Amino acid sequence: MKRPVAFIAGTGRGIPARIMTNHDFAALGLETSHEWIVERTGIVQRHIATDAETTCSMAATAARTAMSRAGVQPGEIDAIILSTATADRLLPSTAVDLQAELGATRAAAFDLSAACSGWIYAMTVAEGLMQSGVIETALVVGSEKMSSIVDWQDRSTCVLFGDGAGAVILKRNEAHSTRGILSAFMRSDGTLAELLWRPSGGAKAPFSQAVLDDRSSYVRMAGRGTFRHAVRSMSEACDRALDGARLRGDDIDILIPHQANVRIIEATAKYANIPMSKVYVNVDRYGNTSSASIPIALDEAIESGRVKGGTTALLVAFGAGFTWGSMVVRF
Ligand code: ACO
Repeated sequence: MKRPVAFIAGTGRGIPARIMTNHDFAALGLETSHEWIVERTGIVQRHIATDAETTCSMAATAARTAMSRAGVQPGEIDAIILSTATADRLLPSTAVDLQAELGATRAAAFDLSAACSGWIYAMTVAEGLMQSGVIETALVVGSEKMSSIVDWQDRSTCVLFGDGAGAVILKRNEAHSTRGILSAFMRSDGTLAELLWRPSGGAKAPFSQAVLDDRSSYVRMAGRGTFRHAVRSMSEACDRALDGARLRGDDIDILIPHQANVRIIEATAKYANIPMSKVYVNVDRYGNTSSASIPIALDEAIESGRVKGGTTALLVAFGAGFTWGSMVVRF
């Protein structure tokens, strides 16, 4: 096992106060029910941002808590990597807005696009920058205003998602430390891009009246196909991260999976031979917050004492692309 180059020094989350329950969909005229949503997904409620709450503002709330817990000042941050599928605008990045908001004057700031796996990708990139000696301290954020890109007329997708942000301060380790990222794995398959996508609104099919009329700038998903690939890919990702850390499922104290659907989580845990008692689940309260879901769950798990010094955690994600990834972290 390699010496861990980077460790998590602090975590935080930024969650909109407004809650939308499954019952609230009736007011939108959608033919759905609390029972259907809970049975298929495990989701009971999700947080929905107001117009004033942005991907940047949620990220800033999460970042400030993470920085304060890590004892890191804005001027000490060398890189801000913000994973998002819901950038506040297309140019420049939301990461530079976050940099300006925090006053992190010497940071290199950029967005990373890997959908729900984005935060795992961003952590792996930050660790690599530490390994190569380019940076010492990184702010790694997943922030998503999914409510701005889902089709509120499409019951098969809009019930699944929620808004929020999670952040960590990642720091380069002192020599001989045994805490930190023990292994990481990333993979993609772009041949499956159209199973979960926004067909229009980018440079290839820019916004137009036709795009607005056919609602093709909103998220579209083939639910069954996505489900199948999610289980297969997250299972592979668990294996690969465990192999990389020379560990087995039994050695893991807590599994923190991407929170998309409790049935996907249960199938992944079963495959990895990790009992549900060791799995962190909050999809019931947040829905799918895309790349924010793992750092939000990690922050809650630390706050509640389920993750503490000595804990070995397996983090695993899957998302549009398709992309998938995982890491083992010792705290
Ligand atoms: N309420 C009531 N009925 C609904 C709803 C709803 N909200 N949505 C769909 N239905 C209906 C469908 O129209 C369909 O009706 P039909 O049989 O008359 O055609 C029926 O329910 C069954 O639909 P399926 O899509 O086959 O239902 P399924 O059991 O596959 O569950 C779900 C759908 C929950 C979306 C599931 O496929 C799933 O969770 N897929 C993975 C989604 C996911 O996790 N995506 C994110 C991962 S990647 C990322 O995080 C970006």
